[in-house]
Amino acid sequence: MWTSKLIQAFNRSEMLLGKRVCVIGAGPSGMSVLYHFNKLRKQDKDIPEVVCFEKQSNWGGLWKYSEETGTDRYGEPVHGSMYRGLWSNGPKEGIEYPDFSFDEHFGKPIPSFPPREAIYDYLKGEYFSRNPATIYGVADFARGRWTKNKLRHWIRFNHVVRQVTFNDTTNDFSVVIKNLPENKVLPVERFDFVVVANGHFSVPNMPFFPGVDQFLGRVIHSHDFRNASHFKGKRVLVVGAGLSAEDIALQCLKYGAKYIICTWRSKPMGYNWPSQITEKPLLTKIEGNTVLFRDGTSAEVDDIIFCTGYLHSYPFLEKRLQLKNTNGPCPEGLYKGLLWTRGGNNKVLVQNLNCPDQKIAFWTDYVTDISKEAEYGYNLDASSVFYPWVKHRMADITNYRSHSFTNLFTGKKSPVTKTPFMQEFDDSVHHFVNPEQRNGAISQDDNQLIGFGS
Ligand SMILES: Cc1cc2nc3c(=O)[nH]c(=O)nc-3n(C[C@H](O)[C@H](O)[C@H](O)COP(=O)(O)OP(=O)(O)OC[C@H]3O[C@@H](n4cnc5c(N)ncnc54)[C@H](O)[C@@H]3O)c2cc1C
Ligand SMILES: NC(=O)c1ccc[n+]([C@@H]2O[C@H](COP(=O)([O-])OP(=O)(O)OC[C@H]3O[C@@H](n4cnc5c(N)ncnc54)[C@H](OP(=O)(O)O)[C@@H]3O)[C@@H](O)[C@H]2O)c1
Repeated sequence: MWTSKLIQAFNRSEMLLGKRVCVIGAGPSGMSVLYHFNKLRKQDKDIPEVVCFEKQSNWGGLWKYSEETGTDRYGEPVHGSMYRGLWSNGPKEGIEYPDFSFDEHFGKPIPSFPPREAIYDYLKGEYFSRNPATIYGVADFARGRWTKNKLRHWIRFNHVVRQVTFNDTTNDFSVVIKNLPENKVLPVERFDFVVVANGHFSVPNMPFFPGVDQFLGRVIHSHDFRNASHFKGKRVLVVGAGLSAEDIALQCLKYGAKYIICTWRSKPMGYNWPSQITEKPLLTKIEGNTVLFRDGTSAEVDDIIFCTGYLHSYPFLEKRLQLKNTNGPCPEGLYKGLLWTRGGNNKVLVQNLNCPDQKIAFWTDYVTDISKEAEYGYNLDASSVFYPWVKHRMADITNYRSHSFTNLFTGKKSPVTKTPFMQEFDDSVHHFVNPEQRNGAISQDDNQLIGFGS
């Protein structure tokens, strides 16, 4: 929608004719840019030359799961922050495209909280392409938004954008790109517009607490959390009280952690937790394996997971084009959360997809305002989905994913999951779409066997 707004605006004024647009990143945000340009092209409209640079080997951004942590084979920081057993924490009815429902993609209604692999497939559709149509029991249906629209050819994979500078005299940008497999910096390319869609959940915010450097167990940030079964039998400290803290605490419990203590800075999450998960005020220091908290209590833990959020990071942008703030709903200097107004002659767009959190009223106003201005043609008010969602979470945080919601555009209600999230260890797209068929893994122990590899 954000992208549609931009392109419509530019299209109306014919600002983009004969121009070049650089898109940085082929995650959901960058792919939306390509999708909307492609839509215009299909309508026989003139469009600029669009080139998308993606440092990973495939599209999907965070949704492209990989076991890798640290740096990748080219020495680049690993982008991924998602984990093996991740399911959507918000109902799909709050995030699905108005013109392409999950039901349409899968050929049948599916429950409201899909596992990661099912969301990725909805976006890209490669799983279906690799498997016979009979898997979903239908002979012919859409293959994901990106594959169906043949968006791959716009993207140069394994190409990282290293530097973007604005040329005041020529009113354009010089972009330095590196071809990673060839370890080669390419000749500078010139672009008229730059869309920054590099995501903002990849660079960990890692605070320091006295004694953490002497701690005897494992210390990781949620960015490097991949498989909750690594914490089986462990006493785990989770630092933070955001959505990662909540979800990772539940994941650890699901996959057999002994107990989990979540420690908060501003306010506790306050859910009706199962007995193995407790909340304490922020830690003050760590002595050996003992963690001391602000309320004077202490606890023994084996491992620590920092769920302390992420930092905006634009190392490739020259200083005056860089957003300075931390993650938040109203980034300073971004008109309508989209257009950078402090440099680059209003020709840098920052695409920042984020899923709505509890600030529902704010997000509702925000998306309805932009969709109206963009003449998007759909009412994107999803508050009727998110208000009950918050209540379900407060009532039973382990089981909120068993509720189902109604698609805002088709009016169809989703089915309820056959097996509740906390008991479901097969989170392959195949099993999710065909709950009567198992794909192998059915216990905490062999969960690594499942999945088709994204
Ligand atoms: C653990 C976790 C769970 C989440 N779960 C949900 C959920 O359930 N539902 C939901 O709606 N949202 C969820 N989100 C939010 C998620 O950020 C968005 O769904 C979405 O991935 C954002 O898309 P994006 O394209 O803006 O960024 P990303 O998905 O991060 O993609 C950015 C892309 O840019 C590329 N890139 C970065 N730097 C460069 C460079 N210099 N040159 C070239 N390419 C570059 C990256 O490789 C990547 O492919 C979750 C986030 C996290 C961290
Ligand atoms: N299943 C899923 O779909 C799923 C799972 C995980 C994450 N996500 C998504 O991932 C995104 C990021 O969520 P997040 O929870 O990682 O980040 P976040 O929402 O920014 O939360 C960060 C938490 O860390 C705390 N914190 C930050 N600095 C700290 C410090 N120095 N000391 C102590 N505490 C500190 C913050 O406390 P304060 O409140 O005091 O600032 C906050 O509670 C969200 O969009 C979320 O939806 C989704």
